[in-house]
Amino acid sequence: MAKMLRIGVQASGGGTNLQAIIDRCQDGSLAAEIAVVITNNPGAGALDRARKSGIKTLCINHRDFSQREDFDNAVVNALQERKVDLVVLAGFMRIITQTFIDAFPERIINIHPALLPAFPGLHVQQQAIDYGARFSGCTVHFIDGGVDTGPIIMQAVVPILPDDTADTLAARILEQEHQAYPRAIQLIAEGRLRVDGRLVIIEPASPPEVTAMLNPSTEG
Ligand code: GRF
Repeated sequence: MAKMLRIGVQASGGGTNLQAIIDRCQDGSLAAEIAVVITNNPGAGALDRARKSGIKTLCINHRDFSQREDFDNAVVNALQERKVDLVVLAGFMRIITQTFIDAFPERIINIHPALLPAFPGLHVQQQAIDYGARFSGCTVHFIDGGVDTGPIIMQAVVPILPDDTADTLAARILEQEHQAYPRAIQLIAEGRLRVDGRLVIIEPASPPEVTAMLNPSTEG
């Protein structure tokens, strides 16, 4: 059997993306094993989800470090000790330093609840609504030195509806996140991704799906 991709997941919150990854590992559609779940937040729901599935957890609290670099070094050491191939940020609410990026070049990915490059940063569902955008979605991307700027692996699109609040839109986007993130990780597990500047090349390429969407629909 091919070697399983060893992933380290970093989460600060509820961990629904972590759960989706756990579920796909368990049902065999994702050829990966979660070597460790690391959180900076002792109260993170992600910790309970990991423990319930018998996955090792580690809390490295950023408040215990005066320098961001020192915090990142502690996290990097923990990931390297566990021989992690890929670092998966799943609702990890800290900006990571160049030290971390250099330790895992093109081996750190993130999921963001908007269609990058639109709406990087925080509170992006509300921003998309306030802007009057008709679509939003999620983006899985590699981490580079910027905030939500790295090469894009996969995106999923959802409509923004007239009555949406930040919460209803976030829920609609999250459903897509739970589909997209494990699929993007599976592409990495299969060794099918190559980064060429800003572009992420998938080999062999998946068959293209060319479906345009209109929102609002002008029919009916
Ligand atoms: C998700 O919306 C993700 O895109 C963002 O943080 C949220 C994490 O949710 N980076 P969860 O903890 O995975 O439920």
